[in-house]
Amino acid sequence: MSETSPKLRAELEGIPTYKPGRSAQSAATAAGAAAGGPVAYKLSSNENPYPPLPSVLETVTAAAGSFNRYPDMMCTSLMNELADRFGVPVSHLSTGTGSVGVAQQLIQATSGPGDEVIYAWRSFEAYPIITQISGATSVQVPLTPGEVHDLDAMADAITDRTRLIFVCNPNNPTGTVVRRAELERFLDRVPGDVLVVLDEAYREFIRDAEVPDGVQVYRERPNVCVLRTFSKAYGLAGLRVGFAIAHEPVAAALRKTAVPFGVSQLAQEAAIASLRAEDELLGRVGSLVSERTRVAEGLRVQGWTVPETQANFVWLRLGDRTAEFAGVCEQAGVVIRPFPGEGVRVTIGESEANDIFLKTTESFRKDL
Ligand SMILES: Cc1ncc(COP(=O)(O)O)c(C=O)c1O
Repeated sequence: MSETSPKLRAELEGIPTYKPGRSAQSAATAAGAAAGGPVAYKLSSNENPYPPLPSVLETVTAAAGSFNRYPDMMCTSLMNELADRFGVPVSHLSTGTGSVGVAQQLIQATSGPGDEVIYAWRSFEAYPIITQISGATSVQVPLTPGEVHDLDAMADAITDRTRLIFVCNPNNPTGTVVRRAELERFLDRVPGDVLVVLDEAYREFIRDAEVPDGVQVYRERPNVCVLRTFSKAYGLAGLRVGFAIAHEPVAAALRKTAVPFGVSQLAQEAAIASLRAEDELLGRVGSLVSERTRVAEGLRVQGWTVPETQANFVWLRLGDRTAEFAGVCEQAGVVIRPFPGEGVRVTIGESEANDIFLKTTESFRKDL
């Protein structure tokens, strides 16, 4: 066998690997659930805790009968449905394998070696990965002490090498938002040849009326693109379908960079069925928002500082107690998402899971 191995691109050196939220099963095994320990709830991936709606499941089951065929590559029915739903031309839409897939296509389409991609930090952990894969340079702008995007500093960070800016609204993992006036002021400072991506993966969980709908912002600004997903509010995380709304030529570039047949027929049919069952799904979102209020208020009563969250998770900045706290949660039966040395992100889940989390924070707080 030859001693040499295939040459890989230097950009891949040292790339951070995406850490998926730990599954309840692996945590349960670690915590001894197999030996009669606590049942673990997964609050580590910002998933929707509700099972699929019967109507959506039925549609997907029926579609499964033809998975020997390739899916509709153009996602025609879904694109038409989305175009009607948002009042945008089909030519301004592009679907992908989750919104993270579309985000990666946006970087591929805009940024390569020598180019810069600006985003807040900490924010969605895929941003540094997909930027580095493209060979572009990440420019990470620290969040304010209140855990919010520092839009002035982000505008100051723009150079003639900047190609793309992510604004994650609400921000993962802090749940914080940027509001209309500050976003407009920021966008006024961004040159027209820099693409601004409003990542609205958690849009449906927002209750703050001052947070702009990215689709309205896109209508007025040719360099703004909106990312949405069916993974969170619509509960289709496992089926992988997200989409962008963007002006030409960005939308056309997305069609060029798409992996052929990347969105399965099951995902397409499930997304359409979910749009048609939207009232029911948004009712579930409403219940999760009520749970969010209960959890955030419960934490504050216990004495925690909790940034105002508009997403389906809360953020606790625990610093060097982060890993220890995550371990205590697992022992209690809930798996959360630690960012070692920084803090924990905890998804709002089933009310029993939220109760366990609140009990755990209460006793941990006494030891702080
Ligand atoms: C801010 C943000 N954007 C995008 C995504 C990607 O979601 P998906 O690829 O499932 O659409 C996530 C998932 O956690 C996220 O938090």
